[in-house]
Amino acid sequence: MRVVSGIQPTGKPHLGNYLGAIVNYVKLQEEAQAAGGECLIFLADLHAISMPHKPAVLHAATLEMVATLVACGVDPAKAILFNQAQVPAHAEMQWLLNGTARMGWLNRMTQWKDKAGKNREGASAALFTYPVLQAADVLLYQATHVPVGEDQKQHLELARDIAQKFNNDFATEDAPVFTLPDPYIPEDAARIMSLRDGTKKMSKSDPSDMSRINLTDTTEEMAQKVKKAKTDPEPLPSELAGLEGRAEALNLVTIFAALAGSNPQAVLAEYGGQGFGQFKPALAELLVSVLEPIRDRFVALKDDRESLDAILARGASQARELAGPTLDQAYTALGLVR
Ligand code: TYM
Repeated sequence: MRVVSGIQPTGKPHLGNYLGAIVNYVKLQEEAQAAGGECLIFLADLHAISMPHKPAVLHAATLEMVATLVACGVDPAKAILFNQAQVPAHAEMQWLLNGTARMGWLNRMTQWKDKAGKNREGASAALFTYPVLQAADVLLYQATHVPVGEDQKQHLELARDIAQKFNNDFATEDAPVFTLPDPYIPEDAARIMSLRDGTKKMSKSDPSDMSRINLTDTTEEMAQKVKKAKTDPEPLPSELAGLEGRAEALNLVTIFAALAGSNPQAVLAEYGGQGFGQFKPALAELLVSVLEPIRDRFVALKDDRESLDAILARGASQARELAGPTLDQAYTALGLVR
C-alpha cells in the first residue's frame, strides 16, 4: 500500500480541505503503517507557481501548511511529509511524462478551463501542464491510494491515462513502469460547498472569507461564520430526499455529519423538524470542538522554524530515496543515456 497526496500552499487551508482530504491523510497514514506500506504527503509548492503569486507569501504559506498538517494529525513519524521543491524528481518526471501527455487531454481539464478563463493566451504554460506534474507526483512513487476531494478526480483519471499510455508505448505488459493509482474520495464530504453559495465549492481563492471556515480561524470567527451561513427558512427534513434543491441546507448537514463521524441520514434522524436557529448553534459547537485543538497545535508550532525545516528536510530525503528507482526506470524505458 502506497498512499500519496498533495495540497497547494496557497491561501489558508479550510474545512473543505480538512474533510475532503486531510482527514483521510491521517486515516491512511495509519493503514499504510499497519500494512507495512508508506504514506507520502507533500506541499505542492511547484504547482503553486502556476498562478500569479508573491514569493514571500508562498514561502510563509508553505511553512504554515506544514504546521497545519501536523496540527491536523499528519505525523512525521508515520507519514513522509515534504515539499516538491526539495525533491527534484517531481519536476524531472514531469518532463519525461510531457512526452506522453496529449494536448487534447490537457485541453479537456475543467480546472484548466476554470482557472485560465477567457484569457488562455495569457495563462502560464505551467497552468496548462499542471496535471502532468500531478501525474508525476503520484506515478513517481507507484501510488496505490490517492486521498483527494472530488474536484481532483479528473486529474487522477488523467494520471491513469498517462501511466497506461507510457506503459503501452515504452514497457512490456509483465514489467510496467507505472502502477495505475486509485483515487480515495470520501463518501459524503467529497465536495464541501461555500457557506455563502451552496452551488460553489468552498475554496481558498473565494474572495469572501465568510464563504469558508479556515482551520486557523478563532473560535469567535468560526461561530460567526456558521451563524451568518446562508440557509433557507424551512426546518430540516427527517429524510435526505427532503434536502433536494436545498443546497445550503444539505451542505451544513453534510459538514455536521462529517465532523461527527456520522452520515447525513443519521443527522437528519436527530435534527429533522428543527429550524436553523437550533441546528446552527449545535453545528458551531461541534465545529469548535473539532477545530479548536487543531488551531491550538498549529499556533504552538507555526513559529518553530527549526522543527518545520527539520520535518521537511527529513521528509524530502525519504521521498528522494523512494522516487529514485522509478525515475531511473522511466529514463531507461525512454532510451535516454545517463
Ligand atoms: P488543493 O490544494 O486545491 O486541495 C487539497 C485537497 O483538498 C481537497 N479539497 C476539497 N475537498 C472537499 N471539498 C472542498 N471544497 C475541497 N477543496 C479542496 C482537494 O480535492 C485536495 O484533495 N492539485 C491539487 C494538489 C496536488 C495533488 C497532487 C493532489 C498536486 N499534486 C497529487 C493529489 C495527488 C490541489 O490543488 O489541491
